[in-house]
Amino acid sequence: MRVLLTGGAGYIGSHTALALLERGHEVIVLDDFSNSHIEAVRRIELVAGTDIPVITVDLSDREATLRKVDCDFDAAVHLAGLKSVVESVAQPNRYYRVNLNATLVLLELLRERSVSNLVFSSSATVYGPPVNSPISEDHPVGAGLTNPYGWSKFMSEQIIRDTQRIRPDLAATLLRYFNPIGAHTSGNIGEDPTGVPTNLMPVIAQVASGRREKLSVFGGTYPTPDGTGVRDYIDVMDLAEGHVAALERNTAGVRSYNLGSGVGVSVLELVRTFEEQSERRIAYAIEGPRLGDLAEVVADPSRAADELGWRAKRTLGASCRDYWNWQVRNPYGYVSEHVSR
Ligand code: UD1
Repeated sequence: MRVLLTGGAGYIGSHTALALLERGHEVIVLDDFSNSHIEAVRRIELVAGTDIPVITVDLSDREATLRKVDCDFDAAVHLAGLKSVVESVAQPNRYYRVNLNATLVLLELLRERSVSNLVFSSSATVYGPPVNSPISEDHPVGAGLTNPYGWSKFMSEQIIRDTQRIRPDLAATLLRYFNPIGAHTSGNIGEDPTGVPTNLMPVIAQVASGRREKLSVFGGTYPTPDGTGVRDYIDVMDLAEGHVAALERNTAGVRSYNLGSGVGVSVLELVRTFEEQSERRIAYAIEGPRLGDLAEVVADPSRAADELGWRAKRTLGASCRDYWNWQVRNPYGYVSEHVSR
């Protein structure tokens, strides 16, 4: 398949590009590089040993996108969008404008080109605070969402569903990610957060490498085994392979799938596993809970196993090892000139 990969230079996009190439598919990366680097594409080319066409455009810009995407493709994987929960609270209009327009423009492009195979990057955020755990796809969505980022994922899912009703040939898969961690084993591709990271894994890695003094553990009295928050960490290469499985199995209609490991891991368990793999000490202090945080968010990934034949394969230790390997080899991410400053 020839796959248009929107947001293909980002953390999940770059790993998905590799997973697609490894399965023999062709990839066209579409990205505006507002929060990613062209170097990521060069690295994918290096690891995969192939050239990758790149379309540099802001997908939320309808005219520019319809003009610039002038090649044929068979399917689209849609990951382009803004992704910071904190930023979305401060800039709601920007988040809605970019994330919703990107989805609308892509759907128009697909219709214009008679492309019916779509995989959309959604989030476990759409479930809101879980009423039961683990969370299956039948869990209610939309109740209790607290930030525009989450709402933009929820609304994009709805836009795709409504579009499919008037376009019955559309085969759309909504992938609801849990907490992605890890990196490609080559150490050439990984997460390169801009600004100050707020997600747990990049913060732990910065403490391990000495760029940060300590980790603030948000909350130590949750009703969890050790009192710290429990999440479902999913290796980014497992996640990437989930996109490939979804593309290859897509049938007309809209179907949602959780991409998670099904295993709950506490903040302190992740810290300990990272310490083992990096052979570094992670200093931490237990502090008060972060506003809006939940005690436990864990996936029931059985639908993806039953229907897509996909399940998480990598261990937590392997994810920590690979994340650390990427960090050691690329201490400043893709912009290596920072090293000499
Ligand atoms: C967050 C987003 C979610 C997004 C996901 C991407 C919120 C409410 N949710 O999920 O929409 O899809 O990131 O990965 O922001 N923690 C610390 N110290 C830190 C950072 C985190 O203790 O410095 C803890 C948190 O309290 C939580 C766990 O680590 O228990 C994971 O946090 P994080 O990586 O930010 O992800 P989520 O909050 O689960």
